[in-house]
Amino acid sequence: MCGIVGYVGNRPATEILLTGIKRLEYRGYDSAGIAVVDGGGIHLLKDRGKVRDLVEKVGAEWPAELREEVRNGIAHTRWATHGPPNAVNAHPHTDQSGRLAMVHNGIIENYVDIKRQLSAKGHVFKSETDSEALIHLIGEYYQGDLLHAVCAALKRVEGTFGIAVMAADQPGTIIAARRGSPILIGVGDDETLVASDAAAIVSHTRQVIYLDDNDVAVVTADGLEICDIDTVPVSREIASLDWDTSAAEKGGFEHFMLKEIFEQPDALTNCIRGRLDTDLGTAILAGLALPPRELADIGRLIMVACGTSMNAGMVGEYYFEDLADLQADVEQAAEFRYRNPIVSPRDMVLAISQSGETADTLAAVREATERGALIAGLCNVVGSTIARETGRGIYLHAGPEIGVASTKAFTCQVAVLLMMALKIGRCRRLSRHRGRQICEDIMAIPDAVRNVLAANDRIAKVAQVCAKADNMFFIGRGYMYPVALEGALKLKEISYVHAEGYHAAELKHGPIALLQEDVPVVALALDLPGREKMLGNIQECRARKAPVIAVVTEDDQELSEHADQVIRIPRTCAMTAPIPAAVALQLLAYHTARIRGCEIDQPRNLAKSVTVE
Ligand code: G6P
Repeated sequence: MCGIVGYVGNRPATEILLTGIKRLEYRGYDSAGIAVVDGGGIHLLKDRGKVRDLVEKVGAEWPAELREEVRNGIAHTRWATHGPPNAVNAHPHTDQSGRLAMVHNGIIENYVDIKRQLSAKGHVFKSETDSEALIHLIGEYYQGDLLHAVCAALKRVEGTFGIAVMAADQPGTIIAARRGSPILIGVGDDETLVASDAAAIVSHTRQVIYLDDNDVAVVTADGLEICDIDTVPVSREIASLDWDTSAAEKGGFEHFMLKEIFEQPDALTNCIRGRLDTDLGTAILAGLALPPRELADIGRLIMVACGTSMNAGMVGEYYFEDLADLQADVEQAAEFRYRNPIVSPRDMVLAISQSGETADTLAAVREATERGALIAGLCNVVGSTIARETGRGIYLHAGPEIGVASTKAFTCQVAVLLMMALKIGRCRRLSRHRGRQICEDIMAIPDAVRNVLAANDRIAKVAQVCAKADNMFFIGRGYMYPVALEGALKLKEISYVHAEGYHAAELKHGPIALLQEDVPVVALALDLPGREKMLGNIQECRARKAPVIAVVTEDDQELSEHADQVIRIPRTCAMTAPIPAAVALQLLAYHTARIRGCEIDQPRNLAKSVTVE
């Protein structure tokens, strides 16, 4: 979730480093730091806030020679994991002597042990981060040979890292290494760059070398040498930067989509982190930037969105009505501006968009702005057009989503909508007691998702049924109705099985005519209000010989007996249930597409970001 840039060469490093981390800001933006190294030692500046705050600080606090003459350095933009975002926890971190500096992405899992051992030897740690343990350990081994010190330390480290390390007495050298957290080296003319993402260096060079896990590189202006952690040389090919594939790595998964499905416990944790006030029973959503009085006074909430984001908005409708007594409607963004949308200055128009670039959603935002509504955005991509134009809003913090079929963005959108409804609800009539309960329910979401992911193999078996079908239906009621729509969308997007999502009661008003033995129905029949009616709808499907795949609460034995196939999900409260249920349907779609041999990450005719109307 953070960004790394390093530079050794013949141009002033400061600006290159600051511009580089600016381009990586989508990975993290709660604190940032820079260290440049010259004969005089390490010059370090870091603080809480965005890269632009760091840029200003550098301009105000650094003398011209540091800004314009020093030719080597490292920089980092952070999204806090261990320890809150503040100047001390920001990277770069230094060792006990202050002669080494390091930026780190990833998590050092055994940092507590390392800190304890080093503390016993007199090390004093300044930050709450795991990263600081690593640079102190490197310092402990350092006797003039930085490569050996880094390798020795990395052998003792458990967890993941992408690092760039510099020493005051070797200003022209960066040691870079990776395990589980990407690092690439950009090779230019008389200059070499290190980065966690090509976005930071593509403007300087397109010649790059991607480090493999456990590679350690000695980087100088003349190029680099790579070895393994035992300092045995290895060779890696230079690649020419291909923008379509360089944006991310699959991290051992067969597809980005599967990787992103499995990232959801972490994505949701990041999305929720720091946003719940469990004492007051409310959510902290600074980006909404409206005083409680104004939030209480919102007349109507209109959500504008497309595709999966629209389905998330439909779940949100229930949240705002149930928790905040607020009339909430989702509008297809593409329709919104071609109608005569009735919006008053007390109405809020909330644009929901993973990419923040969808043309129809952007157009709806502009229309609503002209009509004088309060505007807010719910985006994943930091700094995207919709995020910027709405000015007020909430980021998902789901991390980059590469898979065209949206997965983790959907579940994080739903989580944010729930937190937003909680916050507005608490400004209106929702009690503190109920608010606290909802906070507890929200905090339980990542574990519920983990539980569903553990059923991956079972869901893959159920997908055999879907893979043989040409047509399918997904049905649900209440909170499960939008999930049925999203399940059907996911399936058709990537497996090309024609699927329709319906309210379970609507099935009788037409679509039931299509049911027969080769048309499976996925029935979202959790133990929630409406369960008995769902049981009736399941019987109606089976009476027409349609095979039923029931998504049920894990201990609901009775309902399981009425279905041909069962997918069990953990018992949660009604409001959070859409998230684990959606994850189960994502896996069902994924495996159906895989069995059918589809191009999962590049489904035909689709695009991740639809920037034309
Ligand atoms: C495209 C994508 C969908 C996405 C929709 C809206 O159709 O393929 O996955 O849901 O755009 O995108 P947005 O970025 O605005 O959420």
